Amino acid sequence: MAIERTFSMLKPGVLQRRIVGDVLARIERKGLKIVALKLMKIGPELAATHYAEHKEKPFFGELTGFITSGPVVAMVIEGDDAIARIRGLCGATKVENALPGTIRGDFALHTGTNIIHASDSPESAAREIGLFFKPAEIIDWKDEIGAWL
Ligand SMILES: Nc1ncnc2c1ncn2[C@@H]1O[C@H](COP(=O)(O)OP(=O)(O)OP(=O)(O)O)[C@@H](O)[C@H]1O
Ligand SMILES: [Mg+2]
Repeated sequence: MAIERTFSMLKPGVLQRRIVGDVLARIERKGLKIVALKLMKIGPELAATHYAEHKEKPFFGELTGFITSGPVVAMVIEGDDAIARIRGLCGATKVENALPGTIRGDFALHTGTNIIHASDSPESAAREIGLFFKPAEIIDWKDEIGAWL
């Protein structure tokens, strides 16, 4: 077990559907720690950089179009094995494989609008945190819940 920081983002549609609180509650309930959080609108350049690994995929245009289509909630989450734990909370990428009980399984009907992004590796986490947050925006607050998790 290692304390990690990871990047996660509530995608467009989450604010419109008024489910920001529902999704954040699941992350908090797991015992993970929010150390940075902001509402923002992603521009086309940031969208292309963030999703650069998918540049050649047929859905790239749809993906960047969607992620720039409305406000998102960007965050940095900290905790033991946070990268894998958040991915677990999110559920599978393809909506038909996203089990009930996961965020995508419970809130998403289509793969293209699958509610939440989360970094998939320590390298992605470091890269994505740096893309979305300045170091001063990440708050290193004292957490006393550790003994209860
Ligand atoms: N076959 C597909 N058709 C349409 N959209 C897709 C497809 N595969 C992936 N996507 C979209 O592209 C996003 C990025 O795909 P990726 O393979 O990185 O999945 P992920 O890591 O689970 O999701 P994310 O990066 O958003 O956390 C997915 O979340 C999904 O919205
Ligand atoms: Mg991904």
